[in-house]
Amino acid sequence: MRLLVTGGAGFIGANFIHYWLKHHSKDEIVNLDKLTYAGNLENLRSVEKHPNYKFMKGDICDGGDVAIAMHGVDIVVHFAAESHVDRSILGPAVFVMSNVVGTQTLLDAAVEIGVKRFHHISTDEVYGTLELGSKDTFNENTCYDPRSPYSASKAASDHLVRAYHVTFGLPITITNCSNNFGPYQFPEKLIPLAITNLLEEEKIPIYGEGNQVRDWLYVEDHCRAIDLVLRKGKVGETYCVGAQHEEMTNVQVAKKIVKLLGKDESSIEHVKDRPGHDVRYAMDSAKIRKELGWKPKYDFDTWLEKTVEWYKKDTLWWKHVKSGEYQEYYKEQYEDR
Ligand code: NAD
Ligand code: DAU
Repeated sequence: MRLLVTGGAGFIGANFIHYWLKHHSKDEIVNLDKLTYAGNLENLRSVEKHPNYKFMKGDICDGGDVAIAMHGVDIVVHFAAESHVDRSILGPAVFVMSNVVGTQTLLDAAVEIGVKRFHHISTDEVYGTLELGSKDTFNENTCYDPRSPYSASKAASDHLVRAYHVTFGLPITITNCSNNFGPYQFPEKLIPLAITNLLEEEKIPIYGEGNQVRDWLYVEDHCRAIDLVLRKGKVGETYCVGAQHEEMTNVQVAKKIVKLLGKDESSIEHVKDRPGHDVRYAMDSAKIRKELGWKPKYDFDTWLEKTVEWYKKDTLWWKHVKSGEYQEYYKEQYEDR
């Protein structure tokens, strides 16, 4: 089997490539990635010489690049996207280009060569926001209500994927997952930002009151969910994936990280809130749990501890990432807050 992984040099894509080569070592993987600020070949250093792994630098919006990458491919696993909500507020255009036009370019090529499966990685954010303190959850039938340029672009890509299934018979599946965390996550996202800031004796910037809730999913649990959907999922179907650990606010997550790193709570700093900040996400993963037997391997605290250990050990990885463009982004995003 030959897989095209798009965005494999990013956080989840790289973890997926490590996972796949470990569990399905006979399969071939082509990784098509533009290497934006978020793409980092360091994430794949240990597999770069693997005989069944090939990297191709290219843009999913470029039909020529996509045609070359898709040659002989059986399965497409589509991660490539602009993924950070705050950056979509600073500059939405690239989100529409990569997330919408890029997805459509891949879909056209997938129809053209007749791939056996096109699997699209999406997000719980397409469903909007839930009331704080309620027991409501998102599921596969929840109406779309995206509220940021990022989630609107992901919603548009989901619609295109389903439309290509209905109109052109493309065999698709979609997973809409909640907030991932784990190794190789770019330190613009809350958990790696908090850990690496503390390791650098900086504070954790918490937007507003910090009472927002996310459904934290460890990246390896997510990769296992994708694996199950690829092998046992039903074509045309969507699967919601969330760990559904005990609900925690952002401040509670920050406090856990502070404790794991032996700091005190004065290292948490409240800053200006994110515009249009979604207050609560919670996924109902009953479908993938019942139909495909998926569940997270460990609880949140265990995975968080492992994640903190990884960033403590792999300091070179994030120190390198935090130099250069990151400094300019950090200044623009946090200076006046
Ligand atoms: P990331 O930002 O870490 O990585 C994205 C990767 O895509 C990078 O390697 C980047 O170079 C590549 N890329 C971007 N634009 C490209 C283009 N035009 N052509 C080729 N490559 C391009 O993202 P991530 O956190 O790993 O997220 C992966 C996918 O999962 C995204 O589709 C995202 O929307 C979705 N998702 C992420 C989360 C999360 O918590 N991180 C949760 C739900 C869904
Ligand atoms: O829910 C899935 C989504 O999770 C994915 O689709 C996105 O790609 C991914 O970026 C993530 O989006 P969030 O906006 O939820 O993640 P982020 O880590 O940016 O923020 C998590 C929460 O922490 C959110 O409520 C905002 C808050 N936050 C974030 C940052 C970066 C802070 O309080 N301070 C910060 O500095």
